[in-house]
Amino acid sequence: MEALLEVKDLKKHFPVASTIPFKKSTQSVKAVDGVNFNVYPGETLGVVGESGCGKSTMARLVNQLITPTSGIVHFKGDDLVTMNKETLRETRKKIQMIFQDPYASLDPRISVGELIAEPLVIHNVGDKASRKKRVEELLEIVGLNKRFADRYPHEFSGGQRQRINIARALTINPELVICDEPVSALDVSVQAQVINLLKQLQAEFQLTYIFISHDLNVVRYTCDRIAVMYLGKIVEIGTYEQIYSNPKHPYTKALFSAIPKESPFDDKERIILKGTVPSPLNPPSGCSFHERCPVAIDICSKQEPNVVTTANTHQASCHLIQK
Ligand SMILES: Nc1ncnc2c1ncn2[C@@H]1O[C@H](COP(=O)(O)OP(=O)(O)OP(=O)(O)O)[C@@H](O)[C@H]1O
Ligand SMILES: [Mg+2]
Repeated sequence: MEALLEVKDLKKHFPVASTIPFKKSTQSVKAVDGVNFNVYPGETLGVVGESGCGKSTMARLVNQLITPTSGIVHFKGDDLVTMNKETLRETRKKIQMIFQDPYASLDPRISVGELIAEPLVIHNVGDKASRKKRVEELLEIVGLNKRFADRYPHEFSGGQRQRINIARALTINPELVICDEPVSALDVSVQAQVINLLKQLQAEFQLTYIFISHDLNVVRYTCDRIAVMYLGKIVEIGTYEQIYSNPKHPYTKALFSAIPKESPFDDKERIILKGTVPSPLNPPSGCSFHERCPVAIDICSKQEPNVVTTANTHQASCHLIQK
């Protein structure tokens, strides 16, 4: 199947302000440091990893909210990075984002109807009457009353606000929706409702999702494939089954060992990692995980591991993996 999104060797290095006056800093935060992955039509690719590993930066690079230091982002075969502004504007309609904080992401002074219609106004689609109709339709699609259009964000709960955000993301019929921690700020019971809504909308409108989450239980119910990030890199990618039942990278093993056991017969031992995530300002040599890795050998501190394909849909970067 042809990929909807192809990301190749994508990097974002944020320059760091110099501490010496009039001297340009040569240091940079390697927030995303050579990431490769594809997303196929209709699937949900989960992105997991500890705080600061570069998940949100990667999301912002994919839809060109920020420009990459280097690398390629192909959407339906066209490179967003080198595309002219006008074409990028058109193409970006097809890529929408839903953010974590349903409180911060909705302007409190603008009515719900205006918020949802905003993408139509920005892209000059339809007239007042057709926009109003679309807003009502979208409110119903996300399970809200169409009369809510005249109300303001503060009148709604977190879950309802996230539904408004989802409606807004769907306004101009996107194909790819990037959800950055879409349910992290919600109560567990509300989380399930919003996840179900996202799933239902995916089936109804043939949406493709990139689903960023640090919650591995949420990922399990939403994702077909999972990419595991560590310090700006994808260290392992595979189907949920492969990542959960047969993880290859020591980091993935540790991360997934922290999920509560499913049954008393589950003999998975929890792996506690030593130390904390190193700074992306100064990532370790060789494999960036080696200082915390329980099975590291000599070569790990010296040489960066290659990507090893262990099964059709399963890849990991570790010196200790046998093909
Ligand atoms: N504009 C910026 N300037 C400098 N550094 C940045 C900038 N944005 C992000 N970073 C740094 O890049 C790294 C990755 O950040 P990012 O927000 O992508 O992580 P994340 O995986 O989304 O974390 P979280 O789970 O906490 O949301 C962090 O070290 C962060 O401090
Ligand atoms: Mg983030």
